[in-house]
Amino acid sequence: MGLSALSLSLVLVFQFLHAYAAVNVSWSTITSDSSKNVVQSNFLGVSFELSFMDQYFGNDTSTIPQTMLNYLSQIRNRTGSNPVRLRIGGNSADSSTYLQNQTSPMLKLTDPDANSNNQPVDYGPMLWDVLQSVSGSVEGVEYLIGVSLSDPNNTDGSKIGGDAKSILGNNLDSILVGNEPDLYTSHGNRPLLQNYTVQDYIGEFSEVSDYLNNTSAGDLLNNQICSGPTICCDWDLATLLQQGYLATFSNILKYITLQHYPQNNCFGSYQYGLPYYLQHSNTVALAGWQQHGIDIVVSNTSAGHPRLVMSEFNSASCGGIANISDTFAVGSLWTLDYALQMAAIGYSAVYIHTREKGVFYNLIDPPNRTLSGDTWTTNPPFYAVLVLPEILQSDNGSIVVDLNLEGSMTSNSTVAGYAVYDAGSLSASRLVLFNYDNSSVEFSLENSASGQPSIKYLASSDITEKRNIAWGEESFVGTSDGKAVNVTRDTDGFSWLPSSGNFDCSGNCAVEVPGPSLAVVYLSDSVSSSNSTKSNSARRTVVPASFAIFGLVFTFGFFYLGT
Ligand SMILES: *[C@@H]1O[C@H](CO)[C@@H](O)[C@H](O)[C@H]1NC(C)=O
Ligand SMILES: *[C@@H]1O[C@H](CO)[C@@H](O)[C@H](O)[C@H]1NC(C)=O
Ligand SMILES: *[C@@H]1O[C@H](CO)[C@@H](O)[C@H](O)[C@H]1NC(C)=O
Ligand SMILES: *[C@@H]1O[C@H](CO)[C@@H](O)[C@H](O)[C@H]1NC(C)=O
Ligand SMILES: *[C@@H]1O[C@H](CO)[C@@H](O)[C@H](O)[C@H]1NC(C)=O
Ligand SMILES: *[C@@H]1O[C@H](CO)[C@@H](O)[C@H](O)[C@H]1NC(C)=O
Ligand SMILES: *[C@@H]1O[C@H](CO)[C@@H](O)[C@H](O)[C@H]1NC(C)=O
Ligand SMILES: *[C@@H]1O[C@H](CO)[C@@H](O)[C@H](O)[C@H]1NC(C)=O
Ligand SMILES: *[C@@H]1O[C@H](CO)[C@@H](O)[C@H](O)[C@H]1NC(C)=O
Ligand SMILES: *[C@@H]1O[C@H](CO)[C@@H](O)[C@H](O)[C@H]1NC(C)=O
Ligand SMILES: *[C@@H]1O[C@H](CO)[C@@H](O)[C@H](O)[C@H]1NC(C)=O
Ligand SMILES: *[C@@H]1O[C@H](CO)[C@@H](O)[C@H](O)[C@H]1NC(C)=O
Repeated sequence: MGLSALSLSLVLVFQFLHAYAAVNVSWSTITSDSSKNVVQSNFLGVSFELSFMDQYFGNDTSTIPQTMLNYLSQIRNRTGSNPVRLRIGGNSADSSTYLQNQTSPMLKLTDPDANSNNQPVDYGPMLWDVLQSVSGSVEGVEYLIGVSLSDPNNTDGSKIGGDAKSILGNNLDSILVGNEPDLYTSHGNRPLLQNYTVQDYIGEFSEVSDYLNNTSAGDLLNNQICSGPTICCDWDLATLLQQGYLATFSNILKYITLQHYPQNNCFGSYQYGLPYYLQHSNTVALAGWQQHGIDIVVSNTSAGHPRLVMSEFNSASCGGIANISDTFAVGSLWTLDYALQMAAIGYSAVYIHTREKGVFYNLIDPPNRTLSGDTWTTNPPFYAVLVLPEILQSDNGSIVVDLNLEGSMTSNSTVAGYAVYDAGSLSASRLVLFNYDNSSVEFSLENSASGQPSIKYLASSDITEKRNIAWGEESFVGTSDGKAVNVTRDTDGFSWLPSSGNFDCSGNCAVEVPGPSLAVVYLSDSVSSSNSTKSNSARRTVVPASFAIFGLVFTFGFFYLGT
């Protein structure tokens, strides 16, 4: 009794004190210049491993699961005039076989003994029919697809490119030639070479991309259809770009692609625990991987220059990590932080990866159709792909700036914040405030907001929560149809739910961000996502300092009495 009263008092005291140390949030005006990276609402796409496309999308155009279409519609409904970005690829795009005569099913696993992280399939043009049908159903999806570089003498790339282009038309965004060539040596993919070098790669990239000049859909190289180098790990991007890659391919390259995870779980162990992901400075450092190469890509602002894309990422490679990748803190908050950071430093799109049912970093898990009653589940990363389009939505595109709150870009801090500017008006349209802590933090907005601002929270009860998560008042908890339900504080397990809606910003403009959560502040009515007028009841009552001190004195008094 004594002990629990003591800890309760201490908790209250620290929360009161914490509420006093408000985090000041100020944002500067920005000017228009070509060095500013303008991103669109569909910045955060989803990457699917080729091998498991059937688990999500069915076997042919007549078996596309409605639930999957509902999930994609949820994203599409938030991207305004932009299509949803999907990528189909991964290691399996390099190891699989394309058969033009294979109809239904659109793909089949071919090697039951394959490494679980690289399972080859036989697949055929039905895949493109399914993707085209999906795009029609959700009113706009554009695709990155892969062409294999595993045998550069194999001309199937011409068939893949021709079929995909004929069927997908303008929904075919780009073709990634090869996947993670910097791992070919360590994966034993070039047994005849002691070291597969950048020069070997450039020669092979040239050979395989040339197959795209003569396809059933014509010369695809005319319109910068290719992307690469899709390196992840061992090669230096700047060196590769300067050793001939850019000079040789700049006329056919649409995107310069990277794939990078903060750590791997490929060998049964991993380097970083959950706290790594809660530290914004680690996310900033992570996004700076290949900074020299990124500078080369981003500083080229000439017409038709290749843009920077992260074609695959997630919290840990080889399927993620239990109780890390599948948590609210990592799946939802860290994913948004990393995506916003990449938007701030020059990427034009990023794709979060998802694999077969049961993998820890998946956005959603499809049902195992051989188990009766098994159903779809929504995991924490799916909330990130819903929230980002609402943050970035703008007719003119958006410019994202890290506010370096409390020096969080380089120091230990439990907060982080971004300002999002409309690329047309250059006015700040949104603030994104992260609180990775378990207790509440008050943010004090220093600049005045024009009109009536509103706030919307992505929140949960705990950093390790996996299901009870809400964006505004919507949640996927307990659903299996890919549609959100509305939750309130009366919903079982949601008593912590902060209220989204308009808030008063005249005078002291402070917002309370419960821990853990992310708050999106819509700075004027025109961009408000919600017109409901609600008080910001998540805000804690401001308690006089003397009360807090009294609490402390009282607590210590009790402490001495108790021991
Ligand atoms: C926040 O700003 C207020 C007034 O502008 C100032 O008094 C206070 O010291 C600032 N707090 C921090 C943590 O910088
Ligand atoms: C695809 O085919 C497999 C094998 O016949 C079947 O088990 C599965 O249910 C099919 N998928 C869909 C979505 O119909
Ligand atoms: C998306 O919006 C359309 C109308 O624009 C609506 O019919 C559909 O129900 C919405 N889908 C979801 C999943 O919210
Ligand atoms: C499909 O094409 C492949 C390769 O061209 C061939 O080996 C296979 O026999 C064909 N299958 C059918 C059913 O025609
Ligand atoms: C591709 O073919 C050329 C000769 O046509 C041969 O020298 C080379 O070894 C082949 N490459 C591979 C990876 O098989
Ligand atoms: C292998 O090739 C890569 C890329 O060209 C290079 O960075 C690396 O230093 C080479 N390794 C060895 C052992 O030569
Ligand atoms: C283009 O491809 C077709 C079919 O593979 C082939 O017959 C033709 O010779 C190729 N043309 C050129 C110029 O390579
Ligand atoms: C495609 O490229 C190859 C190799 O550069 C060349 O031989 C061929 O003529 C080109 N085909 C077309 C249709 O341009
Ligand atoms: C589905 O469940 C069965 C029975 O537990 C299992 O053997 C099979 O591997 C599962 N399949 C998938 C795709 O998860
Ligand atoms: C703070 O950051 C330093 C590195 O900058 C790290 O060594 C230390 O563990 C961090 N402390 C906490 C509490 O996260
Ligand atoms: C959920 O709330 C939204 C407004 O936020 C409303 O439009 C919608 O009808 C509600 N859905 C249900 C099922 O109550
Ligand atoms: C939004 O709320 C304001 C009052 O705050 C009201 O005047 C206006 O009509 C509302 N707009 C819509 C579209 O409901």
